[in-house]
Amino acid sequence: MILFCLPCILLLASAQISGDKVTLHGCIKPKYEYVQKGSNLTLYCTLNETGYIERLGWNLNTDQYISRRINDSSSKVTILNLTADTIVVRCSVYLSTRQRIDEVKIQTGDPPETPQNISCIYFHKHNITCSWIHRRDPNIPTTAYLTLPDNTTQNCSAHTESCSFFSGLDLLGLECNITLHLENKLGSAAAQFTVNATRIVKMDPPKDLTLLPTKDPSFSISWKRPILAPDELYVKCGLRYRELQDGHGYYINELQMGIEKEISYILGGLHAHTEYSVSVRCIGSSGQVWWSEWTEEVTGRTEEQAPLHSVELWRVIGTTEGTRLVNLTWKERSGVRSTGITLGYNVLWLPDVRTSDWRNKTTKTNEMTLNITEEAHIISVVHINSAGHSPAAILRIPATWERAREVISSVRISTTASEETTLTWTVIDPRFRRFVLDWCIYSGVGSCNISFQYVENSSQWTIQKGILEPYKRYKISVYPLLDDRAEAPWITYYYIKEGAPLYGPNPKVEDLKETEVTMRWDPLRADESNGFITAFSIIYKPLDGQESVVTVNSDVYEYTLRSLMPDTKYSIYIVASTSGGKTSGNPIHFHTLPEIMNTNKLDRHQAHSQLLT
Ligand SMILES: *[C@@H]1O[C@H](CO)[C@@H](O)[C@H](O)[C@H]1NC(C)=O
Ligand SMILES: *[C@@H]1O[C@H](CO)[C@@H](O)[C@H](O)[C@H]1NC(C)=O
Ligand SMILES: *[C@@H]1O[C@H](CO)[C@@H](O)[C@H](O)[C@H]1NC(C)=O
Ligand SMILES: *[C@@H]1O[C@H](CO)[C@@H](O)[C@H](O)[C@H]1NC(C)=O
Ligand SMILES: *[C@@H]1O[C@H](CO)[C@@H](O)[C@H](O)[C@H]1NC(C)=O
Ligand SMILES: *[C@@H]1O[C@H](CO)[C@@H](O)[C@H](O)[C@H]1NC(C)=O
Ligand SMILES: *[C@@H]1O[C@H](CO)[C@@H](O)[C@H](O)[C@H]1NC(C)=O
Ligand SMILES: *[C@@H]1O[C@H](CO)[C@@H](O)[C@H](O)[C@H]1NC(C)=O
Ligand SMILES: *[C@@H]1O[C@H](CO)[C@@H](O)[C@H](O)[C@H]1NC(C)=O
Ligand SMILES: *[C@@H]1O[C@H](CO)[C@@H](O)[C@H](O)[C@H]1NC(C)=O
Ligand SMILES: *[C@@H]1O[C@H](CO)[C@@H](O)[C@H](O)[C@H]1NC(C)=O
Ligand SMILES: *[C@@H]1O[C@H](CO)[C@@H](O)[C@H](O)[C@H]1NC(C)=O
Repeated sequence: MILFCLPCILLLASAQISGDKVTLHGCIKPKYEYVQKGSNLTLYCTLNETGYIERLGWNLNTDQYISRRINDSSSKVTILNLTADTIVVRCSVYLSTRQRIDEVKIQTGDPPETPQNISCIYFHKHNITCSWIHRRDPNIPTTAYLTLPDNTTQNCSAHTESCSFFSGLDLLGLECNITLHLENKLGSAAAQFTVNATRIVKMDPPKDLTLLPTKDPSFSISWKRPILAPDELYVKCGLRYRELQDGHGYYINELQMGIEKEISYILGGLHAHTEYSVSVRCIGSSGQVWWSEWTEEVTGRTEEQAPLHSVELWRVIGTTEGTRLVNLTWKERSGVRSTGITLGYNVLWLPDVRTSDWRNKTTKTNEMTLNITEEAHIISVVHINSAGHSPAAILRIPATWERAREVISSVRISTTASEETTLTWTVIDPRFRRFVLDWCIYSGVGSCNISFQYVENSSQWTIQKGILEPYKRYKISVYPLLDDRAEAPWITYYYIKEGAPLYGPNPKVEDLKETEVTMRWDPLRADESNGFITAFSIIYKPLDGQESVVTVNSDVYEYTLRSLMPDTKYSIYIVASTSGGKTSGNPIHFHTLPEIMNTNKLDRHQAHSQLLT
């Protein structure tokens, strides 16, 4: 019979009540602390006095139980399928008041499961440390201990899944049968396993790791044998190194150290003047499974090296009377890393025909302006760093009277939706395999500040997104190069994206007659037009009259409107268009002259003063 709490209490409350004044004693037995989850639990409540058993009742925090009277002084309760983590059981007697006889609190749990994934490490002559995994019941303390073949037993700390034997014994070469016991209040589990102490040797990290930068550039790296490596054990090591700047890491395995006390290794193939960090670990080389931990990282910088490549040199030639100003600019080839501390650049120049007449100058910047005569010159630039100097970059500046060859027959230019601009060109002479692209924002006034790019073995170049700005007119030149000579460029003007002009034209009235007016306006500057002007539209109308439109070509800056009404006020404005939009100028007004058959100069002059703007 399964009784539920409420009916149970009602039943007792309805029983006859007597002997109110007695105080009853008793207890619940047995005194369990833990029981297995899912089991049935049977408890007895025994009173010291007889005669009250009819009034005894159980209170539990579950409704799945069966209770039964046993004899005059005892009652039994069986709790079915215990699933809660804890259960509280109370036994009371209901007289005029309720008397609590006893209360017990019991935790549920499971016996330990067999430990899994046991692995052991042998620190030679120090300890064997085994670790394992098992599903831990958080409610019940579990103890673990290891037993070695000589029956020495090591208790493990209650809350870790690893355990060590401290043993000064030399176990090398031995097969050890080890037993791992796990125990809690509900049961125990054991796993027996065999380990070969030699295979599980683990050593400390090697000692005294040092880096010595040497030529080429490389490091001579040395370190000492780990102290815990058994003397007769052959040792090999692994080395890892990392470039601090870019974080790239590399690993070298199988550095055989044998039984040597110390080893040094030349690590080559490194970049000059670059910081690296290095660490090393070791392992026995006869079937051992555990690597040592890594040493602390040691950091060093490789030696400097003279620059390996010449710079890329380019120029802009300015023309003035009698002398020429040549703006030189140069940069490292893309992808070439610095191999030392740049001290400067030496620029040397001489007339092509008088090689003894040379001059030189050193700068720390990437540009220099030379004032040279009109004759041809040879210019050379050398990059000097802390370790030496680069090969020379050489460029010939032609004489002003030399005519450059036209080698490029066409250039195509286009911009993709992803804003990359690609130039493709064709040459008529296949010997030309090097090209220089230069580009600058062209404002129409003053010089422009060029950027340049060398292109080799290709007749195509893509300018990455973000380098060219939208709405700016670029002057882009492609120069073919043969040795140190640049031939005639192909020049093109280009917008990667066009927009409406910044301003519209502001026309002026040039000539006013009875039925005609001549308007004039200024061309838009390249830095105001946001695109190539495609047309101008002249929009005019008499006050309160019909609007008329005349469209003219982009190279027309003057226009005469005819067939106007005499003595009439007109308003007019001009719209400039590009393929990206259109912008209107400010409207102005004029008043056509009254129709006078015999106009004279004075009248005309008076009429001009009627002009309204
Ligand atoms: C618990 O008792 C119930 C009812 O008597 C029985 O069916 C069940 O098998 C028991 N469970 C266990 C684990 O003994
Ligand atoms: C109740 O009985 C138990 C043993 O049966 C005894 O140890 C205990 O002292 C008794 N309690 C009282 C209050 O008499
Ligand atoms: C009543 O039953 C309990 C449990 O079986 C036992 O310990 C106790 O001695 C019995 N008492 C009497 C008076 O028979
Ligand atoms: C015990 O309770 C659990 C969870 O409520 C249930 O899955 C299981 O079937 C029950 N077992 C018995 C024997 O009633
Ligand atoms: C334990 O070992 C088994 C089989 O060897 C493996 O699949 C499992 O991933 C290991 N568990 C852990 C936690 O390492
Ligand atoms: C075992 O010995 C090694 C080497 O002396 C030591 O580093 C490690 O801490 C020791 N393990 C334990 C659990 O004491
Ligand atoms: C270890 O103990 C077991 C059982 O307790 C016993 O049979 C065995 O002989 C003992 N071994 C050693 C080496 O003492
Ligand atoms: C280790 O145990 C295995 C099986 O339990 C047994 O065959 C072997 O002889 C034992 N080895 C040692 C060294 O006690
Ligand atoms: C233990 O392992 C080592 C290395 O793998 C091996 O040389 C040795 O023979 C093994 N010892 C035993 C007793 O199997
Ligand atoms: C050369 O550079 C100077 C200074 O940067 C500049 O003023 C001048 O306009 C440039 N000349 C040419 C032709 O680009
Ligand atoms: C540059 O010229 C100076 C004299 O003006 C000379 O001493 C020096 O050697 C020259 N440097 C080079 C690299 O030619
Ligand atoms: C260039 O040099 C010539 C001759 O020395 C000199 O007359 C001229 O002023 C110089 N030009 C500039 C811009 O320095």
